[in-house]
Amino acid sequence: MDKHGSESYFVEGEGLLAESNEGRDAAAPQVASLQAAPPFRFSRMGPKGVNRQLGEANLKKVAREMAAGGGGAGRIPAGFTYLGQFIDHDLTFDKTNVMLGQNVSPAQLLQGRSPALDLDSLYGAGPQDPESAKFYEADGIHLKMGKTRAAGGFPGKDGFDLPRGDGTTTAAKRRAIIPDHRNDENLAVAQTHLAMMRFHNRVADGLPASVPAGQRFAKARELVTKHYQWMIRTDFLPRICAAGVINNVFNQGRKAFEVGVPANQLPTMPIEFSVAAFRLGHAMIREAYDWNKAFDDGAGTLFWLFVFSATGGDLGGAPRLAADWTADFRRLYDFKEANKPNLAVPDGKFNRAMRLDTTLVDPLRTLPPGTFGGSDSMAFDNPRRNLAFRNLMRAKMVKLATGQQMATFLKGKGVNLTKLTKAQIRNGNGGADLSLLTTSQRDAFLKDTPLWFYIMREAELNNGKLKGVGARIVAETFHRAIEGSQASIIRDTSFKPSLGPNNSTFRMVDLMLFAFESKKALLAPLV
Ligand code: HEM
Repeated sequence: MDKHGSESYFVEGEGLLAESNEGRDAAAPQVASLQAAPPFRFSRMGPKGVNRQLGEANLKKVAREMAAGGGGAGRIPAGFTYLGQFIDHDLTFDKTNVMLGQNVSPAQLLQGRSPALDLDSLYGAGPQDPESAKFYEADGIHLKMGKTRAAGGFPGKDGFDLPRGDGTTTAAKRRAIIPDHRNDENLAVAQTHLAMMRFHNRVADGLPASVPAGQRFAKARELVTKHYQWMIRTDFLPRICAAGVINNVFNQGRKAFEVGVPANQLPTMPIEFSVAAFRLGHAMIREAYDWNKAFDDGAGTLFWLFVFSATGGDLGGAPRLAADWTADFRRLYDFKEANKPNLAVPDGKFNRAMRLDTTLVDPLRTLPPGTFGGSDSMAFDNPRRNLAFRNLMRAKMVKLATGQQMATFLKGKGVNLTKLTKAQIRNGNGGADLSLLTTSQRDAFLKDTPLWFYIMREAELNNGKLKGVGARIVAETFHRAIEGSQASIIRDTSFKPSLGPNNSTFRMVDLMLFAFESKKALLAPLV
């Protein structure tokens, strides 16, 4: 089983807060010079939550209630859940893990360990870097894709699995040859990664012949990255977050995070985003999907999506993905949005994400240890396998500000928001039930509410869309990450999308149509 390396929170101005060897960071770099340098750069947007952290017994109970299942159905197409996970891994990827140490300058090092929406989880350090060359075809332009193996009566096909096959043992061969193994943690995120590879390769194919060979990779990457950022700004974010807040931040600027810094200064990653707000995606995960023609009617369970990956599972014991598990993207994204009714499935086959609220589906109470680098022998009911408990404990570990502290902080920065009342936090709207807490536990919880829970309650009370504290943290962090990327649609104000239906539209469905050439046989290869 592939293990994640140690997780460290190097918070700017505070140093290394704590370390645990059960984290989500990709393998730690082997090169001494990189080990000596500060790891990925986190920061704190708001105040410290000193004397505001709840006891472990309290958090354990809350986590149990959060991951008890239930919760509402949402409207967002389910593909956006795993696009969100892919984006998260892009933001929090430590590129120095795949860089060749001796050649890394201090400036590159800082950049490699700074969050940006620049797809380094897809590109690694680029085809010229000896450590990353393995991600590319011999031309140094196209990304290498893998082949599925024949299964269930479906033939194996090139381009439908992540590239694998290095090493001699089955386990080594199974390991995906991609920069960030978190993108092979479940099948849905793995197939999303593959779709992004395909998008890059198609963009590279479509470059005019006049672009010299030596510039083709860089040109394709820039075009891909800017379209990806455009899609995030105009399609992904408005689906999860109140549109007014996104527009306010992108049109008027930030009020709370890295305000007034030079646009091209390297950003940091606020822990309020990574340890709380953007863990919103955990609520969107479904227990089961109508995955494809072979695994229909809920047969694509989360359990199997883990099994058919090589970080959360073992590909069912095989070295490559079984062809009958290839995604049917028509069931994950709604191509009717792009006027392609021929690429739509009947409503009953379409998968929608769970509502953004305070509940997680039950299987997340007992994560496979491979998803967080835990030991295979970990007992089934160990609370450390509960994703909600992990999130709440991680916040305690870094003394994260509470929801109330962040609301006060943001209001002080001139952000217009209304604090949740104790009654709202207690009752929510069809989310986690706090009645099992003792009176004193509940009083403490309503006074100092963990930020992640607070943000999910806000969304739950707003029909499943972030607002208030959550919306502001997410919008400002994305704004900064796009601004600080090497290719940036905020810094390059003249950029307009050229790969969608017109020069102001580029949605995820447009990205998929471009990547898969609008062909049913590619978007849904089992049909
Ligand atoms: C089946 C899908 C998923 C699984 C099994 C999963 C599991 C995990 C685990 C085990 C952690 C580390 C917890 C800790 O010890 O602190 C984590 C962190 C995180 N997850 Fe997820 N996650 C999934 C999907 C998502 C989605 C859809 C999003 C967002 C849209 C997301 C956002 C995050 C963020 C922001 C972090 C913290 C930073 C990081 O390490 O990447 N996750 N997740």
